[in-house]
Amino acid sequence: MSSGSMASIDGGNYRFLQEYVYSRAGIVLDSNKHYLFESRLSPVARQFGLETVNELCVLLREGREVEVGRHVVEAMTTNETYFFREPGHYDAIRTKLLPRLRKERPSAGRLRFWSAAASTGQEAYSLAMLLREEGLGEGETQILGTDLSTQVLERARSGRYQQIEVNRGLPASLLVKYFSRLGVDWQLNGEVRRMVQFESADLRQSMRLRGPFDLVFCRNVMIYFDAETKKKILRELHGTLARGGWLLLGGAEPAFGAEEWFEREMVGNVTVYVAR
Ligand SMILES: C[S@@+](CC[C@H](N)C(=O)[O-])C[C@H]1O[C@@H](n2cnc3c(N)ncnc32)[C@H](O)[C@@H]1O
Repeated sequence: MSSGSMASIDGGNYRFLQEYVYSRAGIVLDSNKHYLFESRLSPVARQFGLETVNELCVLLREGREVEVGRHVVEAMTTNETYFFREPGHYDAIRTKLLPRLRKERPSAGRLRFWSAAASTGQEAYSLAMLLREEGLGEGETQILGTDLSTQVLERARSGRYQQIEVNRGLPASLLVKYFSRLGVDWQLNGEVRRMVQFESADLRQSMRLRGPFDLVFCRNVMIYFDAETKKKILRELHGTLARGGWLLLGGAEPAFGAEEWFEREMVGNVTVYVAR
């Protein structure tokens, strides 16, 4: 990183970008993220035939290019994810949640799951494979995957993953069972892909009408929001859950101040938030 690149977004534009990303995604980027803005937005500037991020800001300020704005916001999201991330969560679903749901609803009603902030789909597909392994398929379950970024959703829908991605967290037995080779990549089979529907949605919008869900994953995204946004989202997530439904948050994202809506429960070594 050269000091030249650090200094190249001028102060006014930096503040403008911070506010732009905050208003469009709720993501808080504080004042020491010059390098992040520069490294992620320079390619966007080039994509639109511009030389610098400052020029990109001029275009954004004019507000005429909706596509530019979308690319800017999507470039500033962090999309890291992998299969069976936080395995304790999947163990808890298998050993505690599924047996309970099956007992409560032996025949009628599909089990409904939501991967909010789904990124490239590994979270939703890990759950789909787990359900398959437990003898549940399309007929008995429904999984919704949502994200703000349309780019990651396109990848999620394709179900196509690189070698490096299937090497992260996915047991070899499941790779062999549910994927096939596609050139140098791996293609998830239709049987698992059909279990998940991906849609674009902002976590700050209400999804109550899409519920009730038995389980909501909202992992590794709350860290980007401020306290007020977090609280609002937690309340909305509660509104999408069936009574007794589970909310799973990332390990570093405790739901402070949400006692009114959720009861904390330890299952194995993980915390689950049970909707009151
Ligand atoms: C680090 S990934 C987490 C993926 C997955 N949940 C996991 O834990 O592996 C965070 C995702 O949140 C999405 N995101 C950020 N702000 C969002 C918002 N306001 N609404 C919906 N999704 C958002 C990003 O696009 C990104 O794909």
